[in-house]
Amino acid sequence: MNVLLTGGLGFIGFFVAKSLLEKGYNLILVDNINNYAGKINVIFKNQRLKELQKIYNNSKKKNYYNFLKLDLTKDKDILILEQEIKKISGIDITIHLAAYAGVKYSLKYPEKYIKNNIIATQKLLNLVNKKDFISKNIIFSSTSSVYDGNPLPFKEENCITNFLSPYSYTKFCCENILKTYHKIYNFNVVILRYFTVFGPYNRPDMATFKFFYNLLKSKPIYINGKDISRDWTYVESTAIATINAINLFKNNNNIFEIINIGSDNPIKVIDYVNLIFKVANKETKIVIKDYNPYEMKSTWADITKAKKLLNYNVDNNNLEYYLKKTFENLKKYIL
Ligand SMILES: NC(=O)c1ccc[n+]([C@@H]2O[C@H](COP(=O)([O-])OP(=O)(O)OC[C@H]3O[C@@H](n4cnc5c(N)ncnc54)[C@H](O)[C@@H]3O)[C@@H](O)[C@H]2O)c1
Repeated sequence: MNVLLTGGLGFIGFFVAKSLLEKGYNLILVDNINNYAGKINVIFKNQRLKELQKIYNNSKKKNYYNFLKLDLTKDKDILILEQEIKKISGIDITIHLAAYAGVKYSLKYPEKYIKNNIIATQKLLNLVNKKDFISKNIIFSSTSSVYDGNPLPFKEENCITNFLSPYSYTKFCCENILKTYHKIYNFNVVILRYFTVFGPYNRPDMATFKFFYNLLKSKPIYINGKDISRDWTYVESTAIATINAINLFKNNNNIFEIINIGSDNPIKVIDYVNLIFKVANKETKIVIKDYNPYEMKSTWADITKAKKLLNYNVDNNNLEYYLKKTFENLKKYIL
């Protein structure tokens, strides 16, 4: 089976790519290696690229694998992608993870989010729609951020739209574009709404990375609101759920599903930080600040649908173990 994965050198994309290669899928991986979230993020992306090449080199059965450094907002790059896809006679599943993902940065640079989230998605869909060698099966990464203002735990059918950031509205816009493409052009669509993912090579603009960073540098850790909580979700569980979504397309030709990928286990940020202290065997000062108006106070995923449709299984008893794995990885880059 041929898979096109966008954003494949990103934090979640890497674990999805790794698993796809290990499972023997043919893979075209696209990423423009942007410098969002600074130098260390570019180092992470290049390191992930090396690791993927190693996995591929070590695999016994050589499937097709190619990484293309392309920018989905550029028509000339979309043409290059089209030529590449022709070489392997088509794509069965597109997994679209490429995006600008941070909430805070989106307030400062909303146009980047409109370009890299909405326009890039539209250009990708144009390609999928026009070409009969690409199946119209698409998995799209959305976010818990679309839920602000809805009752907890968040259920997929909740429909209050109360966006707190350009990031959230660009993701919700993409969800709606996909809904239209499902209705008008018969796209099969699975939208996965991820909830605060953490793990090795954690995206450096995210809280988990910042907490480890400040701890290791003996700087204070800032928490925006004393009761703020998150449904922390381990990155490899997120990747497994994403890959399991591929099965939904088998023998099914009229799919439009929105599925939460969280942990159904909200934990206060302050308790999470204390767990990080325990795992790292080190402490630093915690400073509680005011809530940020652009951040949700709490997230909590109802994962009934993920369990039913994706065989999704979260392991909430081992948070400490997963934080340890994250710590062991991040400390190599932070120290
Ligand atoms: N990490 C989370 O907790 C989380 C939560 C909810 C949703 N998501 C969504 O999941 C997806 C992956 O998130 P992530 O944390 O891995 O982010 P990430 O920034 O690490 O990965 C995104 C990748 O997309 C690439 N990219 C961006 N614009 C591109 C373009 N125009 N052309 C080609 N490549 C481009 C970037 O270089 C990056 O490697 C995103 O769509 C994000 O919105 C993530």
